[in-house]
Amino acid sequence: MSDQQVCSTFEPVEFMGLNLRNRFIRSATMEGMASTDGIPGPKLKDLYQAVAKGGAGLISTSGCLPDPNWSVGPQRQLMLHAGTDRSAWEEFTRAIHSHGALVSLQMSPFMRIGDRWVGPSEYRPGVHALTTDEVDLIISLYARMAALVRRVGFDAVQVHAGHGYGLAQFLSPYFNRRDDAYGGSAENRARILVRIRKAIGENAGDEFPVWIKMNSFDGVPGGLIPDQAAEYAPILEEAGYGAIEVTGGAIGGSHDSRGALDKNQWFEGYYLEGAAKVKATTHLPVSAVGGIRKPDMIERILSEGVADMISLSRPLIREPDLVHRWAKGDKAPARCISCNGCFKMMMKGKGLFCVQDQDAHDHEKPWT
Ligand SMILES: Cc1cc2nc3c(=O)[nH]c(=O)nc-3n(C[C@H](O)[C@H](O)[C@H](O)COP(=O)(O)O)c2cc1C
Ligand code: SF4
Repeated sequence: MSDQQVCSTFEPVEFMGLNLRNRFIRSATMEGMASTDGIPGPKLKDLYQAVAKGGAGLISTSGCLPDPNWSVGPQRQLMLHAGTDRSAWEEFTRAIHSHGALVSLQMSPFMRIGDRWVGPSEYRPGVHALTTDEVDLIISLYARMAALVRRVGFDAVQVHAGHGYGLAQFLSPYFNRRDDAYGGSAENRARILVRIRKAIGENAGDEFPVWIKMNSFDGVPGGLIPDQAAEYAPILEEAGYGAIEVTGGAIGGSHDSRGALDKNQWFEGYYLEGAAKVKATTHLPVSAVGGIRKPDMIERILSEGVADMISLSRPLIREPDLVHRWAKGDKAPARCISCNGCFKMMMKGKGLFCVQDQDAHDHEKPWT
C-alpha cells in the first residue's frame, strides 16, 4: 500500500453521511458500569472521553436496553426508555463530541425477556419462540428508543444482529426454524431487520443514520456462514441501513465475537472473510472487526477493498489513545494480547479495564 493510502486511514472520511475524522471506530464494548437506572454516570463518561480524546472517529456505545424487562444477569447495562432522565445522556454525548469524535448508540439485542429465554424458534428446550405480536412489540421498543437516542444527541444508532443473540438468530438457519414470514428464505429471515429500520425511520426521522452489526459466521453446525451473510447485505441496503459492521460468533458455538474459542484456531482478523463477502454484494460501507491489531493489516484491509472502516474493541481498552499513537507514526501493533481478561472482569461486575496493565490490581475491587 502506498504512503498516500496509509495517510487516508487517518484523514476525514464520510461514513453514513457523517463526517468522521478518520476510519477508526470503537466497536461496542460492554462495560457493566452504568447506574442502576442504566444511565452513563461520571466513570463511564470518563471512559468514553478517553477513547474520544485518543482519536477514534466514531464511538459505539455498549448495547443499551430499550426496556428494563430485557435485562440479563447482574451487569449494569445502559438503558434508555421513556422513564429515563435524559440530562445525563445529553451530558454524555456532549462530552464525547467535545473531543472531536462522533457517537452512535448500540441497541442491545434481546435474549431473555421477563422470565423467559426467547428466540425465533425453540432451538433448544426452554426457549420461547417469539409470536408475531411479540416481534411487533420488539420492533416498536427499538423504534421508540431510537427517537430518544436522537433527542439526547447521538449521531447514529446501531442495530445489533451479531454474536448469536436474538436478532442474529433470526438470520441464522440453525437458530431460525420458522416457516412464517420471518423464516425460510433470506428475505424472510431478514424481515425483522427491515421492519426495525422502517420503524426507526418513522420514529426518529428517515435521515437519522442507522447501521448494523451483523454476524457473518455463527460457528455452530448448520449456522450462518459468510456466503449467506452476503445475501443479506443488499436487502439491508435496500431497507435503508447506512453501513454494516461485520462480526461473528454465537453462544454455544466454536466462536464468539472474540474469535475461535480454541486458541490453536485463533488468528488475527478472524472475521475478514465475512467482511469481504458482505462488501462484494453491497454498495454500503463495511467496517471490519475482530482481532485487528497491526497497522500493516489495516492498510491491507483498506487497500484491498476488504472493508472501508476498521472497528476495534479490546485494543482501545488497553490503549484508549491507540489511534493517536498510530497517527503520530508509532506503528507498533496494539498492545492488547487478546487474553480476554477484561471480558472476564466485566462479566464479574468489576467494570472494564485491561488486566495486563500494572495498575490492574487497583481495579480489582468493585469499580463503584
Ligand atoms: C469486554 C467486551 C465487551 C463487549 N461488549 C459488546 C457489546 O456490548 N456489543 C457488541 O456488539 N460487541 C461487544 N463486544 C465485542 C466487540 O465489539 C468486538 O466485536 C470483539 O471484541 C472483537 O473485536 P476486538 O478484537 O477488536 O476486540 C465486546 C467485547 C469485549 C471484549
Ligand atoms: S485484558 Fe487482555 S484482551 Fe483485554 S485489553 Fe487487556 S490484553 Fe487485551
